[in-house]
Amino acid sequence: MARGEARLDGFTWKPLGRRDPVVAGLDLTVGAGERVLLVGPSGSGKSTILLGLAGALGASIAGELSGTASVDGRIGLLLQNPADAVVAEHLGRDVAFGLENLRLDRDEIWRRVDCALSSVGLPYGRDHPTGALSGGEQQRLALAGVLALEPDVLLLDEPTAMLDASTAATVRDAIVAGARGRTMIVVEHHIEPWLEHVDRVVVLSPGGEVVSDGDVAGFLAGPPPPGVWSPGMRTPEPLDVPTDLVRPAGPAPTVTLDGVSVDLVLRTLRGAQRTRALHDVTASLDPGSVTALTGPSGAGKSTALGVAGGLIAVVDGVVTPDLRRKRSRELAAAMGWVPQNPEHGFLTRTVADEVGHTARRLGTSVDVERVLEVFGLARFAPSNPYRLSGGEQRRLAIAAALAHRPGLVLLDEPTVGQDPVTWAAVAGWIAASAAAGATVGVSTHDAELPRDVEVRMAAGAIA
Ligand SMILES: Nc1ncnc2c1ncn2[C@@H]1O[C@H](COP(=O)(O)OP(=O)(O)OP(=O)(O)O)[C@@H](O)[C@H]1O
Ligand SMILES: [Mg+2]
Repeated sequence: MARGEARLDGFTWKPLGRRDPVVAGLDLTVGAGERVLLVGPSGSGKSTILLGLAGALGASIAGELSGTASVDGRIGLLLQNPADAVVAEHLGRDVAFGLENLRLDRDEIWRRVDCALSSVGLPYGRDHPTGALSGGEQQRLALAGVLALEPDVLLLDEPTAMLDASTAATVRDAIVAGARGRTMIVVEHHIEPWLEHVDRVVVLSPGGEVVSDGDVAGFLAGPPPPGVWSPGMRTPEPLDVPTDLVRPAGPAPTVTLDGVSVDLVLRTLRGAQRTRALHDVTASLDPGSVTALTGPSGAGKSTALGVAGGLIAVVDGVVTPDLRRKRSRELAAAMGWVPQNPEHGFLTRTVADEVGHTARRLGTSVDVERVLEVFGLARFAPSNPYRLSGGEQRRLAIAAALAHRPGLVLLDEPTVGQDPVTWAAVAGWIAASAAAGATVGVSTHDAELPRDVEVRMAAGAIA
């Protein structure tokens, strides 16, 4: 093998607790210096392939592995969920971590750290706390850690999925510059912006088989593969979700934020650090409509959503209704909430239990089977929520938060990681909830997601 080459030979992976393999007998060779875009529907095995090449399957993730996966040279792996990659309290130490393991000398480490942080467009210094980063910023921090390693082979799992278009462009440029002369395999659902930067496109079927593999011109000349956001394709029609699944079971409130300011306080061993996350924000969410909070990475969208849901205290201004006064059971009944990293909040052992959980606690009932059907998760009913793919976990989190039909629906980046088919399900659920009378707020950088009102934010304020 040449340095920088990556290879799968007869690669088969059957995770513990699953009847059929996720990928079976897969052969794939990526030459040194080649840049490959790996695409396919949610759940098709993209992350599995990257983890296989990185040697993470079998060792830390239980299952049956056969065939071989080999990489010649140093690997830089960017995980799909960037929060999983944070290792240190401050940005500088976090990026330095991998470099310290390479035993580089101190000056070289810090030179690379500063260079990597600025290349991904993180405007903070080495001493900024990692706990104070937004989801998109965490993603860029993780990428900085990977690029700083100057690996021979870059394995990048949806590196721009959580970013707005302009931040994504900056990050893509950083990746392209960092990948020069190296091997790169990048997974992404929205493929168009990558096509000019790759040599080859590999497409997976829903069942994890390679259905096409060739250069970009060949890919563009062929028929658009199903389950992939192909260049120039029309936005899919949101799924027509039956009203009885989404009609609010209780009142749908008008939520208003009036001159709201928020300080996020980060407590560490060395004391507390305050960051002003929102400044004098006035906005409202109305019943029967979808309000989209938009704006660049780090603009305060998630914080504003958290304030509307009574999950974050304000230092100034008034929020009505004041959901912070509600007991947790009342709050759960009134509001469905999906955070930006929903995969951290699963409470039960199976997908079916997860969807029925809130209703059971409230003493009501939901039609779990039909809800799972809408979200394309029916075959995972007995599976462990934590074993699902990134896109599947996000859909499960939405299903679990909304199955009991709350009047207030607050979703942080609900369409991240979805293919056109699963996107239509998520968009359909959102649209149907509002049409049935719910108050819906979403934070999103997805320009295609239907909305009635848009509130643009920048730097913690209404833009
Ligand atoms: N332990 C497990 N039990 C059951 N299913 C599993 C297990 N581990 C992985 N899977 C399944 O393997 C399939 C492939 O997962 P993978 O994460 O590779 O998909 P992906 O193509 O990256 O999807 P996404 O676009 O949603 O990130 C998914 O359907 C996932 O649910
Ligand atoms: Mg994945």
